[in-house]
Amino acid sequence: MIVDRIRWHAVADDRLPGLAEGALLHLRVHGRDICFVRSQGVLHALADRCPHQGKRLSGGWCDEGYVVCPWHRFHFDPASGRARHGVCANVEVFPVEERTDGPFIGFPYTTFRVLGMDLW
Ligand code: FES
Repeated sequence: MIVDRIRWHAVADDRLPGLAEGALLHLRVHGRDICFVRSQGVLHALADRCPHQGKRLSGGWCDEGYVVCPWHRFHFDPASGRARHGVCANVEVFPVEERTDGPFIGFPYTTFRVLGMDLW
């Protein structure tokens, strides 16, 4: 049977736990470029690649809770990744947990479950 899983990774960067409201931070986590943002007190993680023309979202800013791409100013909801006005594809988002031992990001993956065990 095919099953979807999330693999959690600790994000060891001292700037992340104290990231200010509305601030954007680019970090490379396990080979992926991630744009972290704190919006309404919640830490979010988005793929740091605008779905419009591939520019970095982390070079932008936050406006009324949306991440704004610095190139053509499309807005993205940091929780869902939805483009604000529907004029662009959505950006991929990842779950984030702020645990007592630091922030963690989850990357989804698909595996096969055989006899109750995941193959990878
Ligand atoms: S590259 Fe982001 S809005 Fe165009």
